[in-house]
Amino acid sequence: MPEAQAVNRFFSSIANRYDLANRVMSGGMDILWRRRLARMVASESPHDILDLATGSGDVVFTLARRVPTAKTIQGMDFCVPMLDEARSKLKKTGIHHVQISFEQADCHQLPLPDASVDAITIAFGLRNLEDRAQGLREMARVLRPGGCLFVLEFTQPYKWMRPFYYFYLSKIIPVVSGWITGDREAYRYLSDSVSAFPDRNQLSNEIRNAGFSTVSATPLTASIVAIHRAQLSS
Ligand SMILES: C[S@@+](CC[C@H](N)C(=O)[O-])C[C@H]1O[C@@H](n2cnc3c(N)ncnc32)[C@H](O)[C@@H]1O
Repeated sequence: MPEAQAVNRFFSSIANRYDLANRVMSGGMDILWRRRLARMVASESPHDILDLATGSGDVVFTLARRVPTAKTIQGMDFCVPMLDEARSKLKKTGIHHVQISFEQADCHQLPLPDASVDAITIAFGLRNLEDRAQGLREMARVLRPGGCLFVLEFTQPYKWMRPFYYFYLSKIIPVVSGWITGDREAYRYLSDSVSAFPDRNQLSNEIRNAGFSTVSATPLTASIVAIHRAQLSS
């Protein structure tokens, strides 16, 4: 599992180039993946949503635009420069119909009461937690009974895709991200953490072990990423 301080340093160092790096490296697919996530969240009609490892806030803004029932959306992250990006983007969005806040918090110990939110999203964040099991238990704790967790994360691609994908991940990404962020080594972390992350079945088991009852996984884009939907029993 990655070491928390190193993860925080990594995201601090790339915060002002994070969005650009995402767009270029995913060919814009990250936008479509977040929209799909928001569609799945919207189908649960939640009022109070928590977005963890919110980073520069793109999931929060996508949810605000695409989940009509949302009343409050809280974005939490432990990296201050990433939150600074999110807050400065918030000022430019013109979103007023939903109450949005960004707060510094560690996913391993959330500053929220038990059973206080209707839905939780975490996009490209779970992979970065030092103690994934503890993070998932915290998510189960703060969700209301019957509430849903949505995890958007890289996963094991379909077999035919793997040679291309792993070549792209290990050879192309460090070079391209080096151009964008000026730090080629830092982005090796991305490739390593994606390769080391559990596949869909393993992750589903980890989520069940944290106390969720129903877990299903939807692979997207040749299974480069997947959205796990997990529900707490009511
Ligand atoms: C790849 S970014 C994802 C940002 C955003 N969710 C998105 O879709 O673009 C991962 C984020 O996880 C945050 N993070 C990693 N470990 C964390 C932890 N233990 N607690 C809170 N945030 C964490 C990092 O600071 C970073 O902003």
